[in-house]
Amino acid sequence: MFISNTNTMKENNIQARPFLKWAGGKGQLLEQFQFRFPQELNGKGIIKQYYEPFLGSGAVFFWVMQNCKIKKAYINEFNPEIYLCYVAIQKNVERVINYLKTLEKKYHGLDSANQESFYYRIRNKYNQTRQRVNYKKYSTKECSERAAMVIFLNRTCFNGLYRVNSKGDFNVPFGRYKNPTICNIKNLRAVSSVLKNVIITNDDFAIVQKQVKQRSFVYFDPPYRPLNKTSSFTSYSNNNFDDKEQERLAAVFKKLSQIDGVRIMLSNSDPKNEDKEDNFFEQLYSDFKIERLKARRMINCNALKRGEINELLVMNY
Ligand SMILES: C[S@@+](CC[C@H](N)C(=O)[O-])C[C@H]1O[C@@H](n2cnc3c(N)ncnc32)[C@H](O)[C@@H]1O
Repeated sequence: MFISNTNTMKENNIQARPFLKWAGGKGQLLEQFQFRFPQELNGKGIIKQYYEPFLGSGAVFFWVMQNCKIKKAYINEFNPEIYLCYVAIQKNVERVINYLKTLEKKYHGLDSANQESFYYRIRNKYNQTRQRVNYKKYSTKECSERAAMVIFLNRTCFNGLYRVNSKGDFNVPFGRYKNPTICNIKNLRAVSSVLKNVIITNDDFAIVQKQVKQRSFVYFDPPYRPLNKTSSFTSYSNNNFDDKEQERLAAVFKKLSQIDGVRIMLSNSDPKNEDKEDNFFEQLYSDFKIERLKARRMINCNALKRGEINELLVMNY
């Protein structure tokens, strides 16, 4: 394990953490990951670039940025709403904080029944205004307000899920939390500092093929291959990440592996949790090292299935 605190946020004296709750968030696995990150990330700091093309809440990104000697980072999020949050926090965190504080104040001033109707009001507004947003062209006011709505919905909806229906409308029900933290000002400011010189894109993961340079670390955390046919936690947006997509990703993994000094780590759920005979990933990554880690599967509609499961880690080093 290595801790160098290279980019730790001195002004706040706090470590930036994910500001979103996220299905498949890697926070709980970080401790186990630290022993498996490439050695070149620390010590003489031979690796200077970091890439995370399936960002989500970015647990690994925040850890790596604040504990390793990374000079340049490239992060990518496919979901335009989540992408927008990162851009808004990077460009104008104080504006996001202002909007979010207002939502938080209103929410905490209500009794639980009214909190629920307030949640649905914001959800409606968020869905109704979607058509007007230009995700490619950043407008400070519009984007910071929208980012605040996304964070508000994420902190108050059921299980922090991000799910949309066939029309693209966010449809997660109210979360019934007692006293949720909605606006963590210090953390948002620390997040903004970490994001300062980071390249943020809203694209398909294959964009890394155009970005990755020699001596880099790439971390892939694709949507999970569903454990069984009924589990649908791959619906972060209205996009299906099926086995063909996993194969397309494996081809990118192999291609990047040929670049000098590029270290790659990829995580996924272990299909053997459900079917011992399922060798999908062993076949896909037969040239690489595969390890299994223990993880808690928190988000499952069936409470009985929330126990410990194996998570797969594939490494080219
Ligand atoms: C397992 S999550 C990442 C979780 C993240 N590592 C964390 O700690 O929260 C997978 C992410 O991939 C994104 N995604 C889905 N399809 C994608 C694609 N084709 N290219 C890039 N990202 C995609 C989803 O929007 C989601 O944020």
